[in-house]
Amino acid sequence: MQVYTLKNKSIEIDFIARGGQIISIKVPDAKGNIADVVVGYDTVEEALAGDAYFGALCGRYANRIVGGEFEIDGKKYQLDCNNETNHLHGGVDGFNRRNWKVSAVEIDRYVQAYQLSLVSEDGDQNYPGKLEVSVIYGLTDDNQFVIAYEAQTSKPTVINLTSHPYFNLNGAGNGSAMNHELLLNASNYTPISAELGTTSGDIVLVKDTPFDFTNAKTVESACKTDHEQIRMFDGIDHNFVLDDFDGTIKLAGVLSDPESGRKMEVYTDQPGIQIYTGAHFDGSEIGKKGAPIIQCAGLAMETQIFPNSPNYEHFPNAILRSGEKYKHVCIYKFC
Ligand code: BGC
Repeated sequence: MQVYTLKNKSIEIDFIARGGQIISIKVPDAKGNIADVVVGYDTVEEALAGDAYFGALCGRYANRIVGGEFEIDGKKYQLDCNNETNHLHGGVDGFNRRNWKVSAVEIDRYVQAYQLSLVSEDGDQNYPGKLEVSVIYGLTDDNQFVIAYEAQTSKPTVINLTSHPYFNLNGAGNGSAMNHELLLNASNYTPISAELGTTSGDIVLVKDTPFDFTNAKTVESACKTDHEQIRMFDGIDHNFVLDDFDGTIKLAGVLSDPESGRKMEVYTDQPGIQIYTGAHFDGSEIGKKGAPIIQCAGLAMETQIFPNSPNYEHFPNAILRSGEKYKHVCIYKFC
């Protein structure tokens, strides 16, 4: 399978058409030492056979929908439950498994850019409406990797697209990202209900909880606590509610690695960001540099609408109607 490359004078990003999967992001540290900062595999063959969420585009609905059920205008829809009793990341044949059409595009803002497009037919995975999706992967000369999503539908549907790289700024295969410092512009988060297996519908202040990243602290300092929300998912697998959401692009968070000095800022126009410390990695799989993929081998920072939003009126709107345009920008900026 062909590998596409985005390159400026310091950064190189490789991806493939299957799932639009980002298979490597090579970033220098202050001394010019290059490291590949996304978890994955050494070869494309292994990427195709391995964890299909690594670096992939997720949809139609990234994250969970309880029971795979939702209702639009009084009509009920039932999606498959590919994650115990819930629907996750668009189902068994989610967008992460599709071969996207890839073409090089020229856009002023970017040194290099590609457009990835996909048509998801009416009824695909039981979602209503024919959905036409376009994603731009663009790299600027000041090291912003921009992922810009757009979609339109022929009938009312639900949508929540995201990208799923796991970052280890010390280099994938060089231990865990637990020592990374994380800052999030989020005064609230959405706790998980053990019964639902995802967001309970509550929006709770992070103050005085391990989920308070409003001042930078290590991921480990939160994961080592006994807080029931941390124990439940063996780490963090939570959606954070971004402050001052108004649909414009704002700084959502900053991840930095004290060892290499590499730092990444995340910007988005979305209301939430899922932080996932990769509890399901148990070291049984071999990844880059021949190293086992261990817990928190990298940290996922997925900009998004909240989990299960289609079933909560007080959560951000996830319904897209014909004639409307879904838009989402996520920027990973390497400093
Ligand atoms: C979710 C995890 C899930 C993982 C699958 C993440 O986005 O938050 O719960 O296990 O994706 O790769």
